[in-house]
Amino acid sequence: MRKKIVAGNWKMNLDRTQGEQLIQDVLAQKAEVSKGAILVFCPPFPHLGYAKSILGAENSIFLGAQNCSDKASGAFTGEVSAPILRSFGVEYVILGHSERRQYFAESDSLLAQKVDQVLANGLQPIFCCGESLEQRNAGDFVNLVSEQLTKGLFHLSAESFAKVVIAYEPIWAIGTGVTASSAQAQEMHAALRKHIAKYYGEAVAQNTSILYGGSCKPDNAAELFACADVDGGLIGGASLKASDFIGIAKSF
Ligand code: PGA
Repeated sequence: MRKKIVAGNWKMNLDRTQGEQLIQDVLAQKAEVSKGAILVFCPPFPHLGYAKSILGAENSIFLGAQNCSDKASGAFTGEVSAPILRSFGVEYVILGHSERRQYFAESDSLLAQKVDQVLANGLQPIFCCGESLEQRNAGDFVNLVSEQLTKGLFHLSAESFAKVVIAYEPIWAIGTGVTASSAQAQEMHAALRKHIAKYYGEAVAQNTSILYGGSCKPDNAAELFACADVDGGLIGGASLKASDFIGIAKSF
């Protein structure tokens, strides 16, 4: 059975006081989370240390980072490596978010190296993919997004690939209030699962969690999560408010 995951991508939001409050508030409401679903907080790097202390031995709430270096260590001022993240109790790392691809020029080949770093250190990548509006309107978006998986992930062995979580995030839906319809999400998720099956076989594909991201909110999460191939969400704006994040996490 693949995992149901609701991951909160805080992006570059919330100071320490606000972050602590949010985690405490989510913890206080965790009984409402759908059975079997796990939560992941992906705050900015400096939050990770105290967040781990607050979460303690929680076994259904995990920590994720929003990025990491493609190198293990060394003279790379400003970077944070996978071994450092692991030492802070981080278990997931978002890689290839469209904001990283667009504003920080992260290429498919750089992302493949980051994926390797993350996996080599026992962490799980949440690998993002998705098309722009122009690309969708041009019609070939399924192949285009499939290619992002091929280039970023398909160098992995089946054993390593089994640790990867995919997040399909249509760029036109991120932070815009425009959500993909459940039919649009299901179409892409099913296509990606088929693409994975072609390369790694049906069993691996069936075990891969594929999350949807892009203006996912409490009032549209249930419809999205009801899709056969949607295994949860990568949540931006709505992860910054405990009641919204929990509202989504109880929507399975
Ligand atoms: P959003 O962001 O939920 O604010 O649209 C999603 C994301 O970028 O991960």
